Amino acid sequence: MQLRLLSKTDQLLVSVDKALRAIVPHSNPSTRPLPVSSDELPKLSNSEARHVAGLMRINHTGEVCAQGLYHGQAFTAKNDSVKQAMQASADEEVDHLVWCETRLDELGSHPSIFTPLWYVMSFGLGAVAGAISNEFSLGFVAETEAQVSEHLQEHIARLPKQDIRSKEILAQMDIEELHHRELALENGGAALSPTVRRTMRWLANRMKDTAYYL
Ligand SMILES: [Fe+2]
Ligand SMILES: [Fe+2]
Repeated sequence: MQLRLLSKTDQLLVSVDKALRAIVPHSNPSTRPLPVSSDELPKLSNSEARHVAGLMRINHTGEVCAQGLYHGQAFTAKNDSVKQAMQASADEEVDHLVWCETRLDELGSHPSIFTPLWYVMSFGLGAVAGAISNEFSLGFVAETEAQVSEHLQEHIARLPKQDIRSKEILAQMDIEELHHRELALENGGAALSPTVRRTMRWLANRMKDTAYYL
């Protein structure tokens, strides 16, 4: 859709629609099926299912944050090149969001109760990054994707060994997050200062601590 051709009111409505789709479960049709090799659900004890749901809730929250980040960045980006460069990545993030939602459903669990708050915070961070410069904004995406990849690897290692289904979902997401990182760097993403990277990691850890339970 060419946002340039829409009136300000239409652009606002499109933004609100995207935000609601990121926040409200089951409001996004996935364009790709779950990346799993079998339809069979793994057998998990109650405590294992609770643990996997905690990890998947963190990953779902990470995807909500990705939506907020990309939407906020597009909102303030100084020209269309950043938006276009990141559009394919943003589309793949919608699939990730739906995959995590689906796995949470299968586990009889739910997304974080703070989902709207995570979205708004990430939108704000993305908007600030977009307003600073294209290079900073793309650097912010690259660093976010690198940190997401690290925690996906950690989660894959912490899953019960029989939960191949969750592992396959997270492994496919990891491949794509690293590709998003490469795209952001190829399009001019700058290296961020250690302070910014540390602050991002601190915020991500607070999110993870909370979303595992709530
Ligand atoms: Fe993602
Ligand atoms: Fe990503």
